Amino acid sequence: MTSNQLSGQPFFSFKDQSLWVEGLALNSLAQAHGTPLFVYSKAAMLSALAAYQRGFAGRKSQVCYAMKANPALGVIQVFVQAGCGFDIVSGGELERVLAAGADAAKVIFSGVGKTRAEIRQALEAGIGCFNVESEAELEVLNGVALGLGKVAPVSIRVNPNVDPKTHPYISTGLKGNKFGVAHERVLQTYQRAAALPGLQVVGIDCHIGSQITLESPYLDAVDRVLDLVQAIEAAGIHLHHLDFGGGLGINYGGSADAEPPAADALWAKLLAKLDARGYGQRLLMIEPGRSLVGNAGTCVTEVLYLKPGEQKNFCVIDAAMNDLPRPAMYQAFHQIVPLVNRPEATTTLYEVVGPICESGDWIGHDRNLAVKQGDLLAVMSAGAYCMGMASNYNSRGRAAEILVDGTQAHVIRERETTADQMRNERLV
Ligand code: LLP
Repeated sequence: MTSNQLSGQPFFSFKDQSLWVEGLALNSLAQAHGTPLFVYSKAAMLSALAAYQRGFAGRKSQVCYAMKANPALGVIQVFVQAGCGFDIVSGGELERVLAAGADAAKVIFSGVGKTRAEIRQALEAGIGCFNVESEAELEVLNGVALGLGKVAPVSIRVNPNVDPKTHPYISTGLKGNKFGVAHERVLQTYQRAAALPGLQVVGIDCHIGSQITLESPYLDAVDRVLDLVQAIEAAGIHLHHLDFGGGLGINYGGSADAEPPAADALWAKLLAKLDARGYGQRLLMIEPGRSLVGNAGTCVTEVLYLKPGEQKNFCVIDAAMNDLPRPAMYQAFHQIVPLVNRPEATTTLYEVVGPICESGDWIGHDRNLAVKQGDLLAVMSAGAYCMGMASNYNSRGRAAEILVDGTQAHVIRERETTADQMRNERLV
């Protein structure tokens, strides 16, 4: 693949050798707003959502955007306006979706460690469902609901013990993972939930992992969940909705990467299974994160220094592992392309690294690039799990974020200043 071919990102393209997003040149955005700079395409997000909507045409369905993938208010707002619900995992995420205008009734709350305060906050907001992850949580949820004189809508998250064949840090549906209730304990847990006066059983859910590029783990998980649905309903407990989680991968453009199935094609297969077993007309819910936003974003960064070495040549950029943590955390691959393509220029093999004082601060290994000091690069597929996981390590302010809509650029997050970082600190 040459450097000007972009994988899975049709809303980013080269025009006259410079990289554009929708109707704007990334170069001009970087001039106006500085670097590192995250830039997102609204059309790319809506197009990714449309693939799911096509898949669910004619069905009762609710797409709940797993907003941990990109929690910017301006991004959440895109999905609010498109009619989505939200999958949240903390009280902070709840406040964010409400601040962006979400309908609380379309919010589902996942996570193994919900605190009493978060449970109270979510009950008071009137969320649509608690995705309960343990028997102990069920008891606490019941207690808090009764204390408030409310009834909590619940679903039990099933751990189906299915291998999603992804990075071990982002596998969640295996027996050894901390998530969900073990398959063999699910029926008993539902019976307990149905007996508790502060709870109302509304559904069942599962989520097996992230960056899944195969169909088979989904097909296996659906079978395992439907076996349980049958057993739970045979015990007299009705399930109003079935939630199959998120996890569908994206194409990051790495040479060894498998091409994930398209959302509509995957759902055609899953729906065939649901129909065959008579569950195709239930309310179907999903919790996609990465597949809605990952390929809608890029991080624009400046080449600070080129540093030739005996063993390696380093290309030092102004974005670092605090902005783009995925390579350091999961050895993840992100395509890196110059904003201005020079097809005739000779390339050099570089280690692309950030300024942070750790050798783990790398963004790309062995990249062939034609670059010089001061050039701008785009780190692609940076819409998911980048800004959301960004930190202030080395007291670096978090980057600014721009949402592009056609020829309009909206600043959805200002660049963080050092004063912002120090605001809550006190000298003794
Ligand atoms: N639902 C639940 C309960 C989840 O835990 C997650 C993600 C999702 C939905 C959305 O999954 P997605 O469609 O985005 O794959 N930081 C890692 C990914 C962590 C995923 C955590 N859970 C990464 O950068 O690869």
